[in-house]
Amino acid sequence: MHQLEKPEIVALLANRVEVAELFGVADRIRQRYVGDEVHLRGLIEFSNICKQNCLYCGLRRDNQDIKRYRLEPEAVIELAAKAKSYGYKTVVLQSGEDVYYTVERLQTVIHGIKDLGLALTLSLGEKTREEYRAYREAGADRYLLRIETTDRQVYDQLHPGMSLANRLRCLRDLRDLGYEVGTGIMVGLPGQSLESLAEDILFFKAIDADMIGLGPFIPNPATPLRAAVGGTFELALKVMAITRLLLPDSNIPATTAMETLNKQGRTIALQSGANVVMPNVTEGEYRQLYMLYPGKICINDTPAHCRQCIGGKIAAINRTIAQHAGFRNGKNLGQ
Ligand code: SAM
Ligand code: SF4
Ligand code: FES
Repeated sequence: MHQLEKPEIVALLANRVEVAELFGVADRIRQRYVGDEVHLRGLIEFSNICKQNCLYCGLRRDNQDIKRYRLEPEAVIELAAKAKSYGYKTVVLQSGEDVYYTVERLQTVIHGIKDLGLALTLSLGEKTREEYRAYREAGADRYLLRIETTDRQVYDQLHPGMSLANRLRCLRDLRDLGYEVGTGIMVGLPGQSLESLAEDILFFKAIDADMIGLGPFIPNPATPLRAAVGGTFELALKVMAITRLLLPDSNIPATTAMETLNKQGRTIALQSGANVVMPNVTEGEYRQLYMLYPGKICINDTPAHCRQCIGGKIAAINRTIAQHAGFRNGKNLGQ
């Protein structure tokens, strides 16, 4: 395992010469610690309604240029059953912070999905400890909550009415409650420096994150950050590769945002430290309506097509698709 200090991380992030070496080392470490299997997590985007107003996000409360939708609990469970039929061992439920989804409604969904024998990741934003406890007791296995940035000033500017302290509280509660904890950031946020990216990477290490989701920030014209520059594919990839060096056995997805900026983005990420892909299993027009940023891939594709597409990409680089749920601690749901 690599023990990198902040100045070394900053130097790696700034270095434009030896990037191929960095990606090669990250790939070898990935292979040594988590092997050649790629874990597929079927992503269900079940509501684009959000009470928060994050400046970067197309789902933000003040965005009037978006048709809102939510799926009812039964429809979410149906999609999870379809995800299972495509061979996914985990489903990820993601949404805006939608108050319609009370603990009771979520319990119905969680029970329905756990009855299918699937591993379940939630990505529903900031909740109280009691809410997190209730989801966990209902059977949720993992929770994904990106810190977005550990730079307090940048965080405050981007998140009106929210605080870094509460975000950290959420991550601590999730850990205490026995979830596998996922976090991550966007790379290229306005005001973010290489130093703060280095701090972010050290933060993943400090909390021993089980999953780390990273992607470039992509400016959305329907948000106040429409004129921002945005992140680059290469810098996001470097942050990911360095994260693999510091957390060799973690689960790191090759993200949708990476492929949005580079046609081969997920394949390149899988060869630079990533070992997870989250294919979309949302159906019909809802895919287009879950528009975090412009150019999002797969919005006109079907779940079946995405499954086939991603299978082809994985086979093309001589990797295999895992046939188990891929918990970091080796726990297995008996599939
Ligand atoms: N509401 C939940 C939350 O915020 O954790 C989950 C859904 S949120 C849309 C999922 C992730 O989308 C966020 O953590 C953020 O990193 C990412 N995201 C939002 N807007 C983005 C943008 N413009 N570019 C890239 N990623 C974006
Ligand atoms: Fe809502 Fe999440 Fe988007 Fe923030 S990032 S506006 S919490 S959906
Ligand atoms: Fe959706 Fe390739 S994964 S079209």
